[in-house]
Amino acid sequence: MVTEGAAAATARWLCERLRAVGCSAHLLSVARDPEQHVDLVRARRSADGVVLVEPPGVPDALTGLAQSTTAAVLYAVGPVSLSATVAQVAGQVGAVSQVSGLPLDDTAAVCGHGLCGACDLPLAGRRESWVRACSDGPVLRGDLVDWGRAG
Ligand code: FES
Repeated sequence: MVTEGAAAATARWLCERLRAVGCSAHLLSVARDPEQHVDLVRARRSADGVVLVEPPGVPDALTGLAQSTTAAVLYAVGPVSLSATVAQVAGQVGAVSQVSGLPLDDTAAVCGHGLCGACDLPLAGRRESWVRACSDGPVLRGDLVDWGRAG
């Protein structure tokens, strides 16, 4: 589970749900400022392991964590750029990715109701096809999105 920004509560909740059904769950917290990481005490209660990393370090840290834990699924909740990175790493390590498609950064002005188009993401392999994350997601399989064409 990879999280950045205000989505940490969602990440902890998913870790707890996964562990409740017998899966192991590791949390990778991404932040530029150490003060913006997840609450470590609460995170360690929710996950089997917690890793703190700055944004540039996500690909290497996630690749190492996914390989050492033989993760089957990589989850991402945070900015679209984080979802793109997690989807890319998942493809490289042979895992499935389930990622947030909504622009969850602080500057995004989104309707959340399928009206504004701010969350449109291009589908991989389909030139003129888009997925509207708020109404078709918000969680999407990372390999279905063409992240290179995502705004
Ligand atoms: S957030 Fe407006 S259409 Fe999805």
